[in-house]
Amino acid sequence: MRALPSPRGPLAPAPLPLLLLCLLAAARPSWEDGHPSASPVTSLPVRVEMMAKYSNLPLESHNISLTEHSDVPVEKNITLQRPSNVELICQFTTSGDLNLVNVTWKKDDELLESNYMINITGSIMYTLYTVTIINSKQMGSYSCFFEEEKEQRGTFNFKVPELHGKNKPLITYVGDSTVLICKCQDCSPLNWTWYSSNGSVQVPLDVQMNDKYVINGTNANETRLKIMRISEEDQGSYWCHAVFQLGESEERLQLVVLSYLVPLKPFLGIIAEVVLLVAIILLCEMYTQKKKKQPDDGKEFKQMEQLKSDDSNGIENNATRHRKNESVSQ
Ligand SMILES: *[C@@H]1O[C@H](CO)[C@@H](O)[C@H](O)[C@H]1NC(C)=O
Ligand SMILES: *[C@@H]1O[C@H](CO)[C@@H](O)[C@H](O)[C@H]1NC(C)=O
Ligand SMILES: *[C@@H]1O[C@H](CO)[C@@H](O)[C@H](O)[C@H]1NC(C)=O
Ligand SMILES: *[C@@H]1O[C@H](CO)[C@@H](O)[C@H](O)[C@H]1NC(C)=O
Ligand SMILES: *[C@@H]1O[C@H](CO)[C@@H](O)[C@H](O)[C@H]1NC(C)=O
Ligand SMILES: *[C@@H]1O[C@H](CO)[C@@H](O)[C@H](O)[C@H]1NC(C)=O
Ligand SMILES: *[C@@H]1O[C@H](CO)[C@@H](O)[C@H](O)[C@H]1NC(C)=O
Ligand SMILES: *[C@@H]1O[C@H](CO)[C@@H](O)[C@H](O)[C@H]1NC(C)=O
Repeated sequence: MRALPSPRGPLAPAPLPLLLLCLLAAARPSWEDGHPSASPVTSLPVRVEMMAKYSNLPLESHNISLTEHSDVPVEKNITLQRPSNVELICQFTTSGDLNLVNVTWKKDDELLESNYMINITGSIMYTLYTVTIINSKQMGSYSCFFEEEKEQRGTFNFKVPELHGKNKPLITYVGDSTVLICKCQDCSPLNWTWYSSNGSVQVPLDVQMNDKYVINGTNANETRLKIMRISEEDQGSYWCHAVFQLGESEERLQLVVLSYLVPLKPFLGIIAEVVLLVAIILLCEMYTQKKKKQPDDGKEFKQMEQLKSDDSNGIENNATRHRKNESVSQ
């Protein structure tokens, strides 16, 4: 006589599926009598148990619509951060005979066993795959395939929330303090951490040991790293890292540290140019003043002056100017 598997939950209030499990367990020895070497029929009780255990998880339902004329595979990105029951539906519309269409499901590249359902309603074929996603290994791509003359594929990509920081480098000055911010949409990570990257190595920022950094966030969906008394060594990459129940996500931010002289440089350049220009003007002025004072050169100078004043008198004085010009050339 075989020992019954010890019933696990007689003390706890047994939910209905658990009772079913007990019944199945009780019935087991009689099935196995004929095949003592056969592995125990575990898959059904396990599934029943899993469904009982995870029935309180939220339900996510997603669908993809395909037709015989689709040229590219249809993809849907789904963000998931906590364990969930997931229902995936693919619908396929064709003018051909739906009974000749083969349906398969794959997780990444691995064929999924036939625990999916198919139904045909009119000219539409539906296939439903349900899965309880409880760990990071179950994240990834789930695809449905409809095989007719041409294969049609619909893919559901499961990912943990993405983090968003600034995509432009943050510019600061030596001695200042700054705040780096990372956010994610509708998320609440279990944990936020910050790293600085020294070359290719990520070094966790130790907030306790170093009063240079303060990590703070007003909401669960964001984290703020305050860096104080910035020096040139603080320049580089920083990473924010979020841990979710179903995986991890990170984002790189860049900090550029400038010394105060750098922004002043173009300004100083302009000042130098202005000084040079003023100097040249002054020199010219001095030169012309000198010339004015020399009486010997007065003749030539006077004539130039006259020309100038004639110009300002306009066309009427053209005649006089001609005459004057003639006298100059003689
Ligand atoms: C498919 O999903 C969309 C939203 O993503 C929803 O509006 C629609 O009702 C769904 N269709 C079916 C057949 O479940
Ligand atoms: C899904 O995400 C991938 C990579 O993150 C991106 O290339 C693709 O365009 C996304 N697809 C849709 C439909 O948003
Ligand atoms: C087939 O599956 C679709 C999607 O789950 C559902 O809306 C429809 O009622 C089902 N039809 C039958 C006949 O079961
Ligand atoms: C569908 O599958 C069956 C058996 O696996 C195969 O004989 C048949 O050729 C397949 N049909 C198509 C359209 O690939
Ligand atoms: C973060 O959470 C707060 C409060 O729950 C909300 O007001 C804000 O819109 C959220 N931000 C993002 C990016 O999800
Ligand atoms: C959060 O991260 C810190 C540092 O890496 C670690 O000590 C702590 O245990 C983590 N907490 C959770 C809930 O993962
Ligand atoms: C970064 O690396 C340099 C040399 O590789 C080292 O001197 C410096 O202390 C490192 N900084 C941190 C914060 O680890
Ligand atoms: C964290 O941020 C809140 C709101 O911005 C602020 O009131 C609080 O003082 C900050 N804590 C630290 C340690 O900086």
